Amino acid sequence: MKTSSEWSVLADPTMAAAKLAPHVTPGTAVRAMEPMARHTTLRVGGPADLYVEPADEASLVQVLAFCREEKARLFILGRGSNLLVQDEGFRGVIVSLKSPVFERVEWKDGRLVCGAGARLKTVAVTARRHGLAGLEFLEGIPGSVGGALRMNAGAMGSATWDRVEQIRSMDFHGNAVIRKPADLEIGYRHCEGLRGQIALECIFTGHPDSPEAIGQRMLEHSRKRWASQPAAPSAGCAFKNPAQGSAGKIIDELGLKGLRVGGALVSREHGNFIINEGGATARDVLELIGLLRERVREARALELQPEIEILEP
Ligand code: EPU
Repeated sequence: MKTSSEWSVLADPTMAAAKLAPHVTPGTAVRAMEPMARHTTLRVGGPADLYVEPADEASLVQVLAFCREEKARLFILGRGSNLLVQDEGFRGVIVSLKSPVFERVEWKDGRLVCGAGARLKTVAVTARRHGLAGLEFLEGIPGSVGGALRMNAGAMGSATWDRVEQIRSMDFHGNAVIRKPADLEIGYRHCEGLRGQIALECIFTGHPDSPEAIGQRMLEHSRKRWASQPAAPSAGCAFKNPAQGSAGKIIDELGLKGLRVGGALVSREHGNFIINEGGATARDVLELIGLLRERVREARALELQPEIEILEP
């Protein structure tokens, strides 16, 4: 039995929402038992105890204080495009930086100042409008700036951190700091320096070029993407590429495209995508990930590492 000191208000999510709501700015969404399938591109995932979209930074600080006080787990959601929320959902608080303050993309002194919740596509399109080249690759990545920073998202031979001048981030106590790429440990699909930090804002740089030339490159990227990647719901590439090459190519060579568990299917267009054909559960996706890893291990003595973040319930 739990003692009263271990009891958290999150045992009753409706009560927890009512407790948090008076401390945040009006306009902040606070919802109990929010189905996360609504917030992931794979369209799977059970309920989060609490789901919050802070209207501003002050409200985010209040949510952090609430989590500390209630000893609640906290997860910061980007656009849910690289995430597997399990069928049991999440016992804790999920924060999404989706409000206008966090979604802003502003042109300032030849750079783009972006909130962590900004869509990467908006970043790419705004860069094109102002003749800022180098951010074309972000066009087709279905994520947010914060998520792209956290995992150093990349495509078409470029990666997010290649174009970052500086970021502002906050620790879980609400202290904000400005940091440069050199201050952080950055690698292929990871950024160690953001562990324990919430990205708030990012300044992207590039080099000048005509909007037409930039637009042309974006179009080429988009064509390549549509020709090689599925449009069905997915979480992007399921695995990081191993040193041996493209995980998708390896899965393809082993004849594993079309492999299925329940409603989860290995895309026939690109071997590194697991798609939700409709009605897939997180368990289906996890089993399929396990199956693919097993087959690749047996055939190639290779351990594929998931790129998708798997959230523990
Ligand atoms: N290939 C196959 N069969 C497949 C998939 C790929 O033969 O089923 C071949 C392609 O024909 C190509 C090579 O493998 O010759 C590489 O394929 P691709 O250009 O698609 O690149 P990738 O390494 O499989 C990476 C990123 C993608 C990104 C693309 C395009 C990773 C894990 N994946 O895929 O990123 O969109 O390059 O730049 O780094 C993601 O991170 O979620 C993601 C989708």
